Amino acid sequence: MYKIELPKLNTKWLGKETIYYKEIDSTQKEVWRRIENKNIDNGTLILADIQTDGIGTHGRKWYTSQEENIAFSFVIYPNIQIQKIENLTVEIAETLLKVFQKIYSIQLAIKNPNDIVIKNKKVGGILTETKLKGEMVECLVIGIGINTNQQKFTKEIENIATSIKNEFHIKVDNLEVITEFCNLFEQNIIKRMGK
Ligand code: BTN
Repeated sequence: MYKIELPKLNTKWLGKETIYYKEIDSTQKEVWRRIENKNIDNGTLILADIQTDGIGTHGRKWYTSQEENIAFSFVIYPNIQIQKIENLTVEIAETLLKVFQKIYSIQLAIKNPNDIVIKNKKVGGILTETKLKGEMVECLVIGIGINTNQQKFTKEIENIATSIKNEFHIKVDNLEVITEFCNLFEQNIIKRMGK
């Protein structure tokens, strides 16, 4: 595990501290562990090549066994009312679509509320978790997984999952995507927080 710098990052705080793991159980779980231990600052991003126990929505598993895809989580301490984060997951998905449009001129689609798809096959997912204090959101932990450069899928999932590489025949620069996401998304979340 070590700290890395995201290239061309122009945020105030999101992704300023980025911690990279070659392999971890789940970046999402790691963020929560660090919150428990009061050992993670606002905007810190945890990134991994391999997740051995990645989690999806509704208690499902998320597989990141290839060292080719995007898997990261980050924390925000927004201290805003719960209503202010309504539709946040869709906004994150829209931001990811903008990133791929901007860098690669490709169009992905959103399947409400948290799936990113190409021709109805899943390429990515978003997991938004919160810790509340009354009506206020104390912590917001957002996890994003995208199948970018993976080419082989098991028989069980090849009909429902795909990757950017398989659909568009391009190699994605994962760090560039993450950086551009941070640059765009921080502006959105700052507007919501009103600060
Ligand atoms: C879903 O579509 O069910 C959401 C998938 C979210 C997966 C990401 S990968 C990075 C982060 N760490 C995890 O364990 N899960 C999220």
